[in-house]
Amino acid sequence: MRPLEAAADEAASCARCALAAERTQVVYGVGDSHAELMLVGEGPGFHEDEQGEPFVGAAGKLLNRMLGEVGIERSDVYIANIVKCRPPGNRDPLPEEIEACTPWLMEQIESIDPKAIGTLGRFAGAFILDQPISITRIRGQRFTRDGRVVIPTLHPAAVLRGGEKQVDLLREDFRTMMQVLSEPRPSASPPPPPLPSADPEPDQLGLF
Ligand code: URA
Repeated sequence: MRPLEAAADEAASCARCALAAERTQVVYGVGDSHAELMLVGEGPGFHEDEQGEPFVGAAGKLLNRMLGEVGIERSDVYIANIVKCRPPGNRDPLPEEIEACTPWLMEQIESIDPKAIGTLGRFAGAFILDQPISITRIRGQRFTRDGRVVIPTLHPAAVLRGGEKQVDLLREDFRTMMQVLSEPRPSASPPPPPLPSADPEPDQLGLF
């Protein structure tokens, strides 16, 4: 398997989807390429697109604070997004954009081989768990996928809008991630049955 730097070099000129035309730069990922904990968000926003690094805006500051409070440095984890280029206006990535970008994330996960993946927000949680989820119901729980523990948590940007109670939940979930790091790696096992229910899609809300 090639080093992550080589993949990042190739990704820098990626034109596999229409987001390439709109971006300032590709936001490949940042951190320890041998990290035991990998964090996965949705996609770069304005500041990330400008600076070429995931989670550098207000949500990133909260993320850094949470990491510090549970005793781990940002540089000791690896942070990436599902899509590597900013969707215009911070809209959700389209299915064809996700499909085109997925090989980059899969290569990152295989190469880093983290023990735990913390997913940030409903979108990233549903993507990594490969099923619709209710993030408020399943946040902080542990799921085993391909010999790794997946811990879905809230998106820091949503937490910023939600106040101190939400910050407490986010901190609790980061503590769970740290606890997982102190435990043995799970063995690879078949995926468990589907989760009970999912959040409604935003456009479904408009039907009522
Ligand atoms: N939100 C994300 O999902 N990812 C980032 O990198 C920044 C904000």
